[in-house]
Amino acid sequence: MEAIECIMKRRSIRKYTDKAVDKELVEKLLSAGMAAPSAVNEQPWKFLVVDDKEKLNRIADVHVHGQMLRSAAVAIIVCGDLDLRKRPDYWVQDCSACTQNILLAATDSGLGSVWTALYPSEERIEAVRKLFGIPKNIVPFCIIPLGYPNEEKPKKEGYDGSRVEWNEWK
Ligand SMILES: Cc1cc2nc3c(=O)[nH]c(=O)nc-3n(C[C@H](O)[C@H](O)[C@H](O)COP(=O)(O)O)c2cc1C
Repeated sequence: MEAIECIMKRRSIRKYTDKAVDKELVEKLLSAGMAAPSAVNEQPWKFLVVDDKEKLNRIADVHVHGQMLRSAAVAIIVCGDLDLRKRPDYWVQDCSACTQNILLAATDSGLGSVWTALYPSEERIEAVRKLFGIPKNIVPFCIIPLGYPNEEKPKKEGYDGSRVEWNEWK
């Protein structure tokens, strides 16, 4: 798939079939995440992969906007490792770029996915930390449920000129 086609095709998919997702495919998505740009190349990301159905349900129990985790085959929790920071202020941007790469790689691989926020909600971060025994230096940043899609959404359409200024803010 062309990169631009993949970008326009990516949608938040929240319904999944029962089909399992191979470990190799999850690792391919993680490689895409690890290929993201990173300030001073610190690459502060760590990942927790969850394919235990009970645990996916436990996350949904503590995340009102994460109910799709109940039907996901697997989820990637993108985390920031604060001990890997070389500059204090960039780990969120790095983890965001990493997350978007994973979403695009999932789309390209025929998987449905959706960025499910944890950061900056202290309550959600602590709830997920507690569920998985995640230490204090690791911040669970977001969750990406994954599965073969059981819903279809139209691709994104073109260009909104009203959001763009050229050369001067009019
Ligand atoms: C930072 C961020 C946090 C989000 N958190 C959630 C979430 O907790 N639950 C959810 O269902 N969708 C979440 N989304 C997905 C958005 O709802 C979705 O991207 C938006 O409605 C646009 O739809 P699209 O992704 O299909 O283009 C989040 C998206 C972003 C970028």
